Amino acid sequence: MIIEPKVRGFICITAHPTGCSAHVQQQADFVRSQPKLINAPKRVLIIGASTGYGLASRIVSVAGAHASTFGVFFERPADGDRTASAGWYNTVALEQIADKENIPFYSMNGDAFSAEFKQKALEAIKHTLGTVDCVIYSLAAPRRTDKDGNTYKSVLKPIGKQFTGKTVNTDNGKVYDVSIDPATEDELKATVKVMGGEDWADWMHALADAHLLAPNVTALAYSYIGPEVTWPIYKSGTIGQAKAHLMKTAQELNEFLGKELQGRALISVNKAVVTQASSAIPVVPLYNSILFKIMKAKRLHEDCIQQMYRLFAGLFDQKPLQVDNATCVRLDDWELNEAVQTEVRTIWSQISTENLKDLSDFEGYQKSFLQLFGFECDGVDYGKDVPIDCLMNHLMS
Ligand code: NAI
Repeated sequence: MIIEPKVRGFICITAHPTGCSAHVQQQADFVRSQPKLINAPKRVLIIGASTGYGLASRIVSVAGAHASTFGVFFERPADGDRTASAGWYNTVALEQIADKENIPFYSMNGDAFSAEFKQKALEAIKHTLGTVDCVIYSLAAPRRTDKDGNTYKSVLKPIGKQFTGKTVNTDNGKVYDVSIDPATEDELKATVKVMGGEDWADWMHALADAHLLAPNVTALAYSYIGPEVTWPIYKSGTIGQAKAHLMKTAQELNEFLGKELQGRALISVNKAVVTQASSAIPVVPLYNSILFKIMKAKRLHEDCIQQMYRLFAGLFDQKPLQVDNATCVRLDDWELNEAVQTEVRTIWSQISTENLKDLSDFEGYQKSFLQLFGFECDGVDYGKDVPIDCLMNHLMS
């Protein structure tokens, strides 16, 4: 099939298998161009392993440390003439890289929030990796059905008062003011349920109870803080409350894992990047377009893969990263650098539809967005007929 991007708002409903493969290969090549991660974990469980930061964590583990990985995700295989989701194709591509070098690689597709799925995954991990020495929790989900059968939906809203601020329509480049009403108490609670630390803790305790955590295990989850222009919608909004809960969970898990296994739990505060999750947040695509222009000019720009390589190198090898309050590492230091943010603030006050392309890297943003789905990747012949039904060899059920 000849596949074209079909963008609907902040999602693309088609994905290109060859393009996704090229994108994954490019990330693996970057990792291979860096010093090997000799002391990085060798048996890694990644929850949310198919796109964004979780995929990059898995690529670093496979290509940088030759680690055996078990990846969990919620993706869609191809169906008739409907392409698979990008995360499906990404995983097929990384599996092929791992297989070529006989690196053990197992995956499981389904709802990571569900207790039944967790049990199936634990059973499969027991028979594949045995125990794990690193657990990465990189879920970004719009909803969660809890053990009690209730479904909670996360919202990206301010708290307490209405927010009005600049944003961009990523289809047509129109900059406009968006107004978002404050979240209700129920919406706030639901967002913390979905994106807070409760499910992370459930996973860690279930793994511990099943004796699947190795001594000295490292548990990692990802967070974001960002600069003031994004705070009403991020840090001070509903998602910020969920991240505060995640941080509190890290402290509890750090104590628990320290006592039980001499292990640790950490939050890595990462840089803003283009992912399926971040594209859905109002204000953020405009902020990212401005940020990328500045960081590229200063040669400080990083994408998921550069961030995750820096994280692994810092935590396990080479250049130790500073750990704040025992549980927090900062990879957003270059983004929040004062010189970078001073320029962001100046451009933010001036940006409009007319000057968007001059003052920001909007074109780079759009390209990165399409690359998430395997489009606009270098070296791919998009005029070529390609099969869309790609199978995984090590998909556990
Ligand atoms: P993403 O949308 O690229 O990836 C989400 C992953 O979660 C995918 O693998 C998806 O299959 C999986 N997933 C979603 N629902 C699931 C479910 N019910 N069961 C199993 N798997 C499910 O997201 P991204 O941006 O990589 O986010 C990962 C983490 O990184 C989040 O905690 C996010 O807040 C954090 N982060 C993201 C930043 C960004 O700019 N994108 C910045 C800093 C932190």
